[in-house]
Amino acid sequence: MAKVHVFDHPLIQHKLTYIRDIHTGTKEFRELVDEVATLMAYEITRGLPLMDKEIETPVQKTSSKVLAGKKIGIVPILRAGIGMVEGVLNLIPAAKVGHIGLYRDPKTLLPVEYYIKLPSDVPERDFIVVDPMLATGGSAIEAVNSLKKRGAKSIKFMCLIAAPEGVEAFTEAHPDVDVYIAAIDEKLDEKGYIVPGLGDAGDRLFGTK
Ligand code: PRP
Ligand code: URA
Repeated sequence: MAKVHVFDHPLIQHKLTYIRDIHTGTKEFRELVDEVATLMAYEITRGLPLMDKEIETPVQKTSSKVLAGKKIGIVPILRAGIGMVEGVLNLIPAAKVGHIGLYRDPKTLLPVEYYIKLPSDVPERDFIVVDPMLATGGSAIEAVNSLKKRGAKSIKFMCLIAAPEGVEAFTEAHPDVDVYIAAIDEKLDEKGYIVPGLGDAGDRLFGTK
């Protein structure tokens, strides 16, 4: 069964409050999403494999740890996922970045895929799919379906805010994919928005409406 990790780190919770706030403008919103993505990436990468490296300190020769060179792929779900990419790349600069374009049909709330471009070596990479919002779960489920269809075997999903409905749907659809969330909110409203949430993540990130 998928593990659901909810981050209770005070810095993440503090920044999330300002991300939610309607009075936070586009520039600050973008900066905060970027910062929270970095903080979450720090936790998500906790299990990365290490190997020994022989080095020489000014004092003596020693064996020390370095990352074992695992291939990582970051996949934002367009549009809003783009806002989390740089934050993750801050910590994993060698990662490749794929893109999956999905929008929610406003009537059916079902995801519609309009773009996909991934690194060529999908089966060899560990993927982190990023999107600020997990609402009904439809977009994240579909993005992970697309990755699996192309051979991805190791996937994590990271978001800022989730609705309980989305967490349930996602973990049921993808029990092998661990989920990393900054906060699980109360519910979805009748339009499929997360309550209290942060509004439309794409619009707040890019200043559209
Ligand atoms: C938002 C968000 C997720 C999706 C979540 O994207 O960024 O991708 O909704 O909703 P779900 O869990 O019910 O599928 P949106 O469809 O608004 O597209 P946009 O990023 O292009 O604005
Ligand atoms: N997409 C968003 O951007 N916000 C929500 O609350 C739900 C879906």
